[in-house]
Amino acid sequence: MPQSPEAAAPYPIPAAVCEAYGPGDLGGTPLFGGGFINFGYWQGIDLDSELTEHDRVNSQQALYRRVLGALVPTETSRALEVGCGLGAGCAVALEEFGFAHVTGMDIHPQQLERARRARSRLLEPGSRQLSLAHGAAENMPFDDGTFDRVYSVEAAQHFRDLDAFARETARVLRPGGHAAVASFFAPGNDPDDARHLAGLLETFATGLDVAHSIQQLTGSLERAGLTEVRADSIGASVWPGWDRWLSGTWKPGTWPRNFLRAYRDGILDYYLVTAHRPMAPGSA
Ligand SMILES: C[S@@+](CC[C@H](N)C(=O)[O-])C[C@H]1O[C@@H](n2cnc3c(N)ncnc32)[C@H](O)[C@@H]1O
Repeated sequence: MPQSPEAAAPYPIPAAVCEAYGPGDLGGTPLFGGGFINFGYWQGIDLDSELTEHDRVNSQQALYRRVLGALVPTETSRALEVGCGLGAGCAVALEEFGFAHVTGMDIHPQQLERARRARSRLLEPGSRQLSLAHGAAENMPFDDGTFDRVYSVEAAQHFRDLDAFARETARVLRPGGHAAVASFFAPGNDPDDARHLAGLLETFATGLDVAHSIQQLTGSLERAGLTEVRADSIGASVWPGWDRWLSGTWKPGTWPRNFLRAYRDGILDYYLVTAHRPMAPGSA
């Protein structure tokens, strides 16, 4: 059913997500910066030297570059970012990857308000290439086939319903379109992983992050009719750098340092997942 991008109340916001991106303003903490809120892709950054804020912003931009580079953008592509946060990644998509138009969608009205305020810093004055929309991964306020590309960076760990996210991604993609999702997931299907992750990491214990397995995401995408579903581990380029950055403010043994431990224990990894919506049978 056609829906307006202005439609309110897209989906209930889980309490921990509401707090972290509302009053908690996670993106405003020194752990992030540059308008990004992700752990970063640290390949090419010297982790043995003293890390600077510039390195940190670069790592987060680099994660976007890794994801967007997997999407085969073209100048006519219309892209949707799911969980756009403060919109800095939408600007990377427009400036470096040549999309014709990017829509940044987020479930949290306060994040969108921050993104609207940041817009003049991110883009040329008067640019009409970026739209911001209030919507949820599980219930997107767009018509069928609206986008050529759908991508999401470090938001899927918050989604409650991966089947609904996958169905919505397949629906809003046009036939022939591509999707790319980067986030952290459990590599195996061990039912104890959720308990172990909650024991190590406060964000899992509070319910901000959900211990989905990577097979749950790839299975959801396949059940939604997407093909060529592929999951690549990129954890080796994420976790050591993230931990090195944390080491400036968090002592060894404190819970945020356990992300690297969970990776080394084999119960958490970071993935780039790509998928394709096939053309309808008989179409060129
Ligand atoms: C860790 S931040 C990542 C922001 C941005 N992608 C980046 O890398 O800078 C996660 C974002 O996902 C949003 N989010 C969480 N659950 C969502 C959902 N179900 N649908 C859409 N956005 C969601 C949050 O409000 C938050 O802005």
